[in-house]
Amino acid sequence: MERVVVVTGVSRGLGLELCKQYLSEGAKVYGCCRSPEQSQQLLELKHSAGYQFELVPLDITQPGMIQNLQYVIEEPIDILINNAGIYGPSGLSYDQLTVDPWMEVLRVNTVAPMMVTQALVEKVAESHDKKIIMMSSKMGSMGDNQKGGCYIYRSAKAALNAVGKSLAIDLADRGISVGILNPGWVQTDMGGSSALIDSETSIRGIRKVIEQLSLKSSGHFISYDGSLITW
Ligand SMILES: NC(=O)c1ccc[n+]([C@@H]2O[C@H](COP(=O)([O-])OP(=O)(O)OC[C@H]3O[C@@H](n4cnc5c(N)ncnc54)[C@H](OP(=O)(O)O)[C@@H]3O)[C@@H](O)[C@H]2O)c1
Repeated sequence: MERVVVVTGVSRGLGLELCKQYLSEGAKVYGCCRSPEQSQQLLELKHSAGYQFELVPLDITQPGMIQNLQYVIEEPIDILINNAGIYGPSGLSYDQLTVDPWMEVLRVNTVAPMMVTQALVEKVAESHDKKIIMMSSKMGSMGDNQKGGCYIYRSAKAALNAVGKSLAIDLADRGISVGILNPGWVQTDMGGSSALIDSETSIRGIRKVIEQLSLKSSGHFISYDGSLITW
């Protein structure tokens, strides 16, 4: 039976690469994104993949669109990847922060992945693989924070880690594993051109980590190269 993978935020960057690589290994992929028609690369991938690749309109901050997912995706979901995210305003020092942009980043990076998970968890529970992924960031690590700053993005990913850890504990008795993953510093719109690795390398590693994810490693904070990250 073909594996079913659901990915959010597939218009570009890591989400698009996740779709490419899972399609090339033969999975059925549901790619969720805000405006599929605005991404030429996504449309080309859809054209070449055919029925194997379904595009689903989804803004992860819109509750109605999230609820709609349970009707659009009929099969059990082997791997749910909460990838969509934003960086928010950058370069703000502690005396420049304001409430609204911060709340928006928390909404997209922390609350929305939980809402998407809530809507789809029953379908994950019905599947063979039973895996839920939170695309986090090393920037959410306290132990790794040597430079300060980046209050908004760091706090949103640290809070996402807390969500992923509780989910791992709460879903263990249903056989569902939760991976809290760091893709590395990657050359995407978010990572910029000076980033250390390309999307292909990051996602090759992320796929391997997901493959090895089990109930034993559920709730761990793991990098794309398989190494554990300090909380
Ligand atoms: N690149 C890195 O170095 C790096 C490092 C650590 C962690 N990450 C994490 O990895 C994930 C992917 O990052 P990336 O580098 O691929 O970023 P990216 O190139 O900026 O792409 C972000 C994706 O998220 C989507 N998105 C944003 N807000 C959304 C919303 N409200 N609803 C639905 N989709 C939304 C975007 O869709 P639109 O095209 O519609 O805007 C886009 O497809 C993020 O969670 C990010 O925090 C990235």
